[in-house]
Amino acid sequence: MNAANPNSGEDARRVQRPSNDPFLFRPLTLRGVTARNRIMLAPLCEYSATDGVANDWHLVHLGARAIGGAGIICTEATHVSPEGRITPHCLGLWNAAQRDALARVVDFIVAHGATPAIQISHAGRKASVARPWEGGGPLSPEQGGWQTFGPSARPFTQAYPTPQAMTKADIARVTADFAHSARLALQAGFQIAELHGAHGYLLHQFLSPLVNEREDEYGGSLENRARFLLEVVAAVRAEWPKHLPLFVRLSCTDWVEGGLSADETVEVCRMLAATGDVDLIDASSGGADPRQKIRPSPGYQVPFAERIRREAGIATGAVGMINTPDLAEEILANGRADLIIMGRKLMADPHWPLKAAAALHVAGAWVPQYERAAPMV
Ligand SMILES: Cc1cc2nc3c(=O)[nH]c(=O)nc-3n(C[C@H](O)[C@H](O)[C@H](O)COP(=O)(O)O)c2cc1C
Repeated sequence: MNAANPNSGEDARRVQRPSNDPFLFRPLTLRGVTARNRIMLAPLCEYSATDGVANDWHLVHLGARAIGGAGIICTEATHVSPEGRITPHCLGLWNAAQRDALARVVDFIVAHGATPAIQISHAGRKASVARPWEGGGPLSPEQGGWQTFGPSARPFTQAYPTPQAMTKADIARVTADFAHSARLALQAGFQIAELHGAHGYLLHQFLSPLVNEREDEYGGSLENRARFLLEVVAAVRAEWPKHLPLFVRLSCTDWVEGGLSADETVEVCRMLAATGDVDLIDASSGGADPRQKIRPSPGYQVPFAERIRREAGIATGAVGMINTPDLAEEILANGRADLIIMGRKLMADPHWPLKAAAALHVAGAWVPQYERAAPMV
């Protein structure tokens, strides 16, 4: 594990900046953790692990973006059990080998001044598929596929196998799996945990009325559909210390008539805020129903982050085609979100934060090894 415990909240490399700095480069403090700026690398599946264990790919991918200046570096969806993985090549966190491999990555991220975050997930009925570049379709048992689980025995599409409807014992087991992964994440040195409640994966499957057809206390009313998520939050918070922040990523709408709506999501966020256990909502959308109609454009999901922040009284992260320093600055300056979460742009350009710092005239963001490149931006 880490020689210098990053969970102590001490980090000599963090820079205290004057308050007239651009909003994007002001530190963000949640509980006992301060990120050096408001840029978070979005969770991005890399489908490059073996047996759920991180390797040099993950070190270089996540490490490069720490060097590149992002404040928070989040892992890809990291799954709580073998059957919870999207593909056989996804990251997992249910054993010591997986924990120790991630600890190496965490150490590097921390050494370069960024805050390490982990997204903890279970893919539910969308598990057991091939990687995108191998077709992305459901895997048969002969191809190494496995039995999937969901709130109800309804497949994602006709092409997917029918998931097994989870019993209450299954729900209790998966809840304990989330808590176990959180305990291992703490041991690995992560300072932020994010629960994946979006994109049609298991926690979202329970929230969405298009997926959840249960007639017990986990289905029906919004309160019932949110029960599993709230139980997972409580179980994870019991393992995740009080001084460390907990994020929840939500799909704020299913983009389908009759699906989870933005109004319902605000209600769920009020429930999450009332627990006192959750510190930030990462406001995404879609993924539960293949009929969804989305027209992405720069900042298209920002209205969800803005509404949740205002109406549920909880910090939010905005995500989705936020690709320019000006748009990021506008969102933060107008109090529409507290954090800017960036996926594909940071994938294409790991040094985007350093360049944004130069464009916004923020000094001291470049790592010393790269300082001679700064005037060239
Ligand atoms: C290759 C790829 C992998 C992704 N993997 C994840 C993931 O593991 N967990 C997740 O919540 N979202 C995942 N996403 C969604 C991103 O986190 C992000 O929400 C989305 O790309 C929109 O942000 P952007 O426009 O800045 O890319 C993924 C997106 C891409 C393109």
